[in-house]
Amino acid sequence: MSKSSEITVEAHDLRRTFQTKNQNPVVALDGIDLQVMEGEIFGVLGPNGAGKTTTIRILSTLLLPTGGWARVKGFDVATEPEKVRRVINMASGAEKAGYDFITAKKNLWFFSQLYGIPSDIAEKRINELSEMLGLTKYLDRKFYALSTGYRQRATIARAFINEPKVIFLDEPTIGLDVMTALSIREFMRAQAKEKGRTIILATHNMSEAESICDEVAIIDRGKIIANGTPDSLKRSLGAPPLVMEIQPAPKTLDMLSSIDGVRGFTSSVDEERGLAMVQVVVNDESGAEQAVEAMRKSGYNVLTSWRRSATIEEVFVSLVGKGFKEREETEE
Ligand SMILES: Nc1ncnc2c1ncn2[C@@H]1O[C@H](COP(=O)(O)OP(=O)(O)O)[C@@H](O)[C@H]1O
Ligand SMILES: [Mg+2]
Repeated sequence: MSKSSEITVEAHDLRRTFQTKNQNPVVALDGIDLQVMEGEIFGVLGPNGAGKTTTIRILSTLLLPTGGWARVKGFDVATEPEKVRRVINMASGAEKAGYDFITAKKNLWFFSQLYGIPSDIAEKRINELSEMLGLTKYLDRKFYALSTGYRQRATIARAFINEPKVIFLDEPTIGLDVMTALSIREFMRAQAKEKGRTIILATHNMSEAESICDEVAIIDRGKIIANGTPDSLKRSLGAPPLVMEIQPAPKTLDMLSSIDGVRGFTSSVDEERGLAMVQVVVNDESGAEQAVEAMRKSGYNVLTSWRRSATIEEVFVSLVGKGFKEREETEE
């Protein structure tokens, strides 16, 4: 299906503040602008607490914005929610979306009836969706007897039962095994590319965003800090990032902060190999050399270091100075 140039989901200066009893109000969305084209998989990517779920809930009419506006297929989410609901569906990886004591198939059937879908069509759709999601063999199992992965496949099937034009998926592959996550991603791609559905995918999984999104908005503390195709985002970095394997695991990486040619860094510990990986976003060769030197001077053993092409996480690092993990730690 060729990509049409129609805007399907649009938001302007979208805001959401939550009032809390004893603390200051929480600004979950601090003015978001979005334009999503028909048939696109649009990723809303950011660390935990960034505002992804709030965005999805507002766009899918589950929550009202406290400022700005958003439209889905031309309908305003705040003033025409019932019209929006006719063309959308949503699913979340965090919900447990089914009735335990009926089969997977009866669960899907139940939801198809809520949409008033005629029996023969419902039956056909359930079979087709199940086939595409590898769920067919498990349809007759009671929902509670399904593994997490198959329950999630059923949850995803449910989100497509009404043939929605626009589907909102909030962390649909969170906590799943690799094979299930891959099947669900393949399914999302097929639904967008073959059926022309628009998918808004909230995720904190950077490789997921890179692998299936046509367009990504990187969100941090309620603001979009970058957006574009995964390739254009990665290209925007210019110089390839530096990766170092070091021992022992560092307590701090403050020595990198003072280097001019270093824009930011993140690290992870490889328990099995007993070392730490440090990813550094640099401006140029000199920044990379100084970063390696600074680690050595601070007493770390730099086992290996190399430059490689950028990932989306490093786009975040270049803008925020740190990675998702460090951002989440400072949110506490
Ligand atoms: N109902 C609520 N009441 C108060 N604060 C909330 C509520 N929902 C979300 N928040 C806060 O809004 C921010 C964004 O949350 P959320 O949209 O769930 O982020 P994400 O999905 O990216 O992890 C967080 O700081 C979160 O604690
Ligand atoms: Mg969330």
